[in-house]
Amino acid sequence: MEFRKLFLHSSVLVLHFAFSSSRDTITINQTLHDGDFLISRENNFALGFFSPGSSSFRYLGIWYHKVREQTVVWVANRDDPIKGSSGVLSIDQYGNLVLHSYHKQKAPVWTTNVSVEVTDYCVAQLLDTGNLILVRDKSESTVWESFDHPTDTMMPGMKLGLNRRTGMNRFPICWRSADDPGTGNFSLRINPNGSPQVFIYWGIKYIWRGFPWPLKSYADILNVSFVNNQNETYSAHSVTDASVILRITLDHSGLLKKLIWHEKDGKWNEFWSAPKSPCDPYGHCGTYGICDPDYLSRRFECDCFPGYEPKSPRDWHILKDASGGCVRKRLESTSLCGHGEGFVKVANVKLPDTSAAVWVSMNMSPTDCEKNCRRNCSCSAYASIDIAGKETGCLTWYGKLMDTVNNREEGYDIYVRVDAVELAEIAQKWNGFLERKDMLAILVVSVVSAWFVIILFTYLWLKKKKERVRNKWNKRWLDTIGRTYYNETSVENQVEGSMSHPEIAFFNLSTILAATNSFSPANKLGQGGFGVVYKGKLSNGKEVAVKRLSKDSGQGIDEFKNEVLLIAKLQHQNLVKLIGCCIQGEEPLLVYEYMPNKSLDSFLFDMAFMERRENMGDS
Ligand SMILES: *[C@@H]1O[C@H](CO)[C@@H](O)[C@H](O)[C@H]1NC(C)=O
Ligand SMILES: *[C@@H]1O[C@H](CO)[C@@H](O)[C@H](O)[C@H]1NC(C)=O
Ligand SMILES: *[C@@H]1O[C@H](CO)[C@@H](O)[C@H](O)[C@H]1NC(C)=O
Ligand SMILES: *[C@@H]1O[C@H](CO)[C@@H](O)[C@H](O)[C@H]1NC(C)=O
Ligand SMILES: *[C@@H]1O[C@H](CO)[C@@H](O)[C@H](O)[C@H]1NC(C)=O
Ligand SMILES: *[C@@H]1O[C@H](CO)[C@@H](O)[C@H](O)[C@H]1NC(C)=O
Repeated sequence: MEFRKLFLHSSVLVLHFAFSSSRDTITINQTLHDGDFLISRENNFALGFFSPGSSSFRYLGIWYHKVREQTVVWVANRDDPIKGSSGVLSIDQYGNLVLHSYHKQKAPVWTTNVSVEVTDYCVAQLLDTGNLILVRDKSESTVWESFDHPTDTMMPGMKLGLNRRTGMNRFPICWRSADDPGTGNFSLRINPNGSPQVFIYWGIKYIWRGFPWPLKSYADILNVSFVNNQNETYSAHSVTDASVILRITLDHSGLLKKLIWHEKDGKWNEFWSAPKSPCDPYGHCGTYGICDPDYLSRRFECDCFPGYEPKSPRDWHILKDASGGCVRKRLESTSLCGHGEGFVKVANVKLPDTSAAVWVSMNMSPTDCEKNCRRNCSCSAYASIDIAGKETGCLTWYGKLMDTVNNREEGYDIYVRVDAVELAEIAQKWNGFLERKDMLAILVVSVVSAWFVIILFTYLWLKKKKERVRNKWNKRWLDTIGRTYYNETSVENQVEGSMSHPEIAFFNLSTILAATNSFSPANKLGQGGFGVVYKGKLSNGKEVAVKRLSKDSGQGIDEFKNEVLLIAKLQHQNLVKLIGCCIQGEEPLLVYEYMPNKSLDSFLFDMAFMERRENMGDS
């Protein structure tokens, strides 16, 4: 008996498994009972009945099939729980998905309610995106999809926002609690006014505001896009790495969270959430207030825009309550229009609420943007913004500036309209700052100059010392050769000594470089095993051939000396005349007279001669 029961049980399980893994659709007259599942083709998502948390109620929902921790992304009957396992999902003769509970005999617990015409073809399919779609005819046009009716989770590919043609507004609403998927009080919605923004609402009250479009662009794992035209206003996201399971959810406490499933840890890792900082709650510093989340250095996170002051100084300074916001200074006495007013920059802020803002043009220079704002007396501020991949946009505000937050990483500069008095005061402060800055600059410059002078002198001294050593060396060498120098008048020759019997000159490397155009390939005459020969022209017009003895010719400086000595002794009609050498660079250089008519032969001969010498030296 026990065995029989066990066998039955396991065969049910096996059947169940085979059934559920193969099925991702239901059609007319088919049913899905509590305990049955639809599994999407790639096993990404499952649809079935579940009980959330400690609740004993049953709900029809969609969850991640590959995620161990049951994570429900969509609930059909969120406000009409089913008691016990009596729930049945089916498609009625009109082609609507209907959810019945045996305890509620007549009216369905939930229905898609999109059609009233009898049909004989209708299929509901759970897709691998987590979308449950209802297809009414064989042309496969979707008449209903769960993505249009979000619960509390935004899925990749889901649209958040309005379809102006159908009047549909898609937005997630949080659960009541972790145990109750019923409609909660927080929602995530797009406000299409002005430049559209995403808000978290509590009822109809703003709790938090996202970045105005199209400013925020994500280049990381999340690709957020937005569309705003006469037909639609929506935002959607995709995940750039298909292997990542990512969800955006509005939890029951009103926190918007972005989470990634970590298979290894077996849990969701939250990588972003809002509201979080003291400046996140909408309008924390009131109208014309600016909130600074890094306010630790100051006593209060709130400040007023330039030209504005706290409306209630007592609340502001003593109670640290900024909800009253700020008001314009000298409100009665000065005008903001046509009386020498101007604009003051407030740098790096999350731009104020753009519900009352207008994109004047997607292609307007900062100067024109300012002119545009100045022209209209009700324009309170403007921002000139570079939108990646697009032109410079001009955003202008009409009316109050609300919910501005300092944001050093992702902020923009805004220019706020101030009266002439404020402008003058700011200019004065700025000048004062400049004076202080001047003092600082002078100090910095003097310290830097002092260091520079010290370093320069040290460098020159070291250079001089090195030169002295080199010259000493040269002199010694020349003494051993027993010759005096050849002076080429226009060549700056820094070698000390007598210039009376010119035989061999010592050239500066710079002279050689100038003569050969820095060993330009165009000046190359030929190449032998001993090195490369370049044509050059000294500053006195004399044409020379410079042989660059390759470093790996294996010759030490002593061999080189002997070479020069030998060639100098062997000056012969048939040989090209050696004028001098250079030993400043890394490679020793020999400078010959250049004879255009018999150049090649001479050089070839010369090279062969040099190579012969080298071999003789080796043996
Ligand atoms: C279906 O929709 C119609 C109108 O759109 C509405 O009157 C009706 O109450 C809805 N039925 C259910 C069960 O939601
Ligand atoms: C569904 O069931 C009804 C009633 O049993 C029947 O008349 C109808 O033909 C069935 N439709 C399909 C598509 O099987
Ligand atoms: C939603 O707000 C109403 C009205 O303030 C309140 O009675 C209710 O308890 C709130 N619901 C939740 C889930 O917090
Ligand atoms: C981001 O999404 C848009 C619209 O869906 C798409 O055109 C674009 O290719 C996506 N970019 C990346 C990097 O995935
Ligand atoms: C809006 O919808 C109409 C009708 O479907 C279409 O012709 C038009 O191109 C759409 N406009 C945009 C901007 O998508
Ligand atoms: C100023 O701009 C507002 C908002 O765009 C507009 O309604 C108003 O007509 C403009 N006023 C003038 C004088 O251009």
